[in-house]
Amino acid sequence: MITDLDIADLKKVTELILQQHGYDFRDYALSSFKRRVLRILELGGLTIDSLLKKIADQPGYINEFLDELTVNVTEMFRDPGFWRLLREEIIPGILLNNKQFKIWHAGCSSGEEVISMNIMLKEMGLQDNVSIIATDIDTAILDKARAATYGIKNMEVNEKNYIRFQGKHSLKNYYREENGKAVFNSELLRNVSFRKHDLVVGEAFNKFDLILCRNVMIYFNQTLQNQVLKKFHGSLFKYGYLAIGTKESLIWCEYVNRFIVVNQEEKVYKKIKD
Ligand SMILES: C[S@@+](CC[C@H](N)C(=O)[O-])C[C@H]1O[C@@H](n2cnc3c(N)ncnc32)[C@H](O)[C@@H]1O
Repeated sequence: MITDLDIADLKKVTELILQQHGYDFRDYALSSFKRRVLRILELGGLTIDSLLKKIADQPGYINEFLDELTVNVTEMFRDPGFWRLLREEIIPGILLNNKQFKIWHAGCSSGEEVISMNIMLKEMGLQDNVSIIATDIDTAILDKARAATYGIKNMEVNEKNYIRFQGKHSLKNYYREENGKAVFNSELLRNVSFRKHDLVVGEAFNKFDLILCRNVMIYFNQTLQNQVLKKFHGSLFKYGYLAIGTKESLIWCEYVNRFIVVNQEEKVYKKIKD
């Protein structure tokens, strides 16, 4: 079993992926990137050379590789306090100016965050006022998000979060059980468009009232965080909101002075300057 990799080996991987597939991992945080590559080697019984050969010779392997490389861990109503803040402060703030508004979930993973958003909006009577774009770099995880079907075991933590969010019902109202799976009502995704989008090389979108990019930039180094924040700035209306993960920080980013902090604990920012 390989227990360590040097920078030169990792560089060979990133350069090959960039050259052959256009994904740029050069500015991902080194320690977590290394851990994921080591895991891929271990799971596949590969050496660094056989991994490089597989990437070079098997064009379809890149999707599997990306799915293993990215960390897709997520939950419904993750950080319930954040979702209460959205319901009680952020969404009412957006509604003061717009009855119809747009949300971008960047790095949506398997869609739990999007389902949570629409459950919350539905309970506020607002689902049809909002159009949502949900993106991720990982096509396999986007397929899971579109299916809105989750292992029943995962529902325990989701239900606990929903209770702490103080939702109106039980989470069970929104899904049915089928063969050990929780299948969410497809109506919950009727205002959502799932798309593949890479935050590193992809263009900025036009334009949103709220962007959620939670627990994604933690895997980027400061240079990349800077670039991505610039894209989010360009994709937000003036006075639009940006939410990042509670353990993340934008403090070092050049563009941070174009935002004010709305809530320090839940890491919600508001764009105040073009
Ligand atoms: C830990 S999950 C976060 C899911 C959700 N936002 C949350 O907070 O629970 C991180 C997601 O970011 C995605 N991701 C990583 N790099 C990305 C990139 N360059 N562009 C778009 N998505 C990316 C991963 O595929 C993964 O699904």
